Amino acid sequence: MKYYTELLKIIEGGIKKDSQKVNDYATLLAKKLKDDGEEKKSQRIEKILMKSGSFDENTINYSRQVPFDSESKLEVATVLMPIQIEEKTLFYNESLRQQIDEFIDSYKESDRLASYGLNIPSTLLLYGPPGCGKTELAFFIAKRLNLPIVIARLDTLISSYLGSTSKNIRMLFEYAKKNPCILFLDEFDAIAKLRDDVNEQGELKRVVNSLLQNIDFLNDRSVLIGATNHENLLDKAIWRRFGTRLNISYPERQLRREIIIQILSDIGYNTYKRNFLDVLVDLFESLSVADIEQILKKSVRTAVLKNRETEFLDFIEGYFNYIATDVNLDGDPDAVRREKLKFLLKINPSFSLRMLGQILNCHHNTIRSDFKKIQGELE
Ligand SMILES: Nc1ncnc2c1ncn2[C@@H]1O[C@H](COP(=O)(O)OP(=O)(O)OP(=O)(O)O)[C@@H](O)[C@H]1O
Ligand SMILES: [Mg+2]
Repeated sequence: MKYYTELLKIIEGGIKKDSQKVNDYATLLAKKLKDDGEEKKSQRIEKILMKSGSFDENTINYSRQVPFDSESKLEVATVLMPIQIEEKTLFYNESLRQQIDEFIDSYKESDRLASYGLNIPSTLLLYGPPGCGKTELAFFIAKRLNLPIVIARLDTLISSYLGSTSKNIRMLFEYAKKNPCILFLDEFDAIAKLRDDVNEQGELKRVVNSLLQNIDFLNDRSVLIGATNHENLLDKAIWRRFGTRLNISYPERQLRREIIIQILSDIGYNTYKRNFLDVLVDLFESLSVADIEQILKKSVRTAVLKNRETEFLDFIEGYFNYIATDVNLDGDPDAVRREKLKFLLKINPSFSLRMLGQILNCHHNTIRSDFKKIQGELE
């Protein structure tokens, strides 16, 4: 049944007496009906919303006619309205948070900034390793600015048909110009990778040029966000087009601590010692937020499935299962411990004997004698 999701959400909102949810999804339903040519039905919902003072003109008038690639007939982007974006707790360090807030505030205060003759930053590049929150941040910004997010589908955009890629890019940017939005080019390096894929170098040049021109002519009612984890693949001229560039990298110590506390609290695991936290904070160095989340949740899940309380060592085991895929975890416990020890020393040679003892659940003297054995093996 069409619009089943919207109906469900409206019912949920009604039962929970969440009038915001009812309004949001009723607005979305009205918009979808309008897009389908069901003007009368849409207007009836609009009327009810207007009476209650919760009519959102922006959502209703937003054109859903996303351009499509003439070859594959697939849409070049997917559009999500702000109400469809889930609110999540996101973790970024203090300096990044400030820069994000400043970017958001600048857009919100664009009229005031313009009255001082100041430009509004409307291009943002997010770069850094996988799983640290680039995509999440683009969605978060759309939600905070109450703008639809138009997610470019790079696979469709980059048409195999010579010449169509530039045309698709132009159509997409024109769409973004007409409809204020966050235009999101995720995994943006795919365009740069054309360098290897396309036989004809000329095609790449045309695509990059068309991208540059389109970025230059995008008005500042829409915001362009690009994300990549291969920033070195990006053409220098494209890199320069982005007024704000944020490096979203692996969480540092303090942030790792916050992340662990929050995730464990979300999954109802609250009874641990401070010491336990210190060990995990150290162990999770150079891991992404996505990795940390996976390890913690999976460890708790494993214990729940075994019908017992989660213990500290479950998290350590979860870590080894997830990260150290090259460590043999079967066999003689002493040999396994030494394998784990070797792995730990590789990732962090400065772990203290005490810390290693805690991680591997043994006395630090055992670690000391393991050290000797490992040394012996090497000689
Ligand atoms: N900073 C963060 N705060 C909260 N959750 C995060 C954060 N970073 C990653 N996550 C979790 O990891 C998942 C993946 O994050 P996201 O897709 O934003 O990563 P990414 O940086 O875009 O990675 P990729 O380069 O692979 O696209 C999220 O859905 C979320 O659950
Ligand atoms: Mg991503």
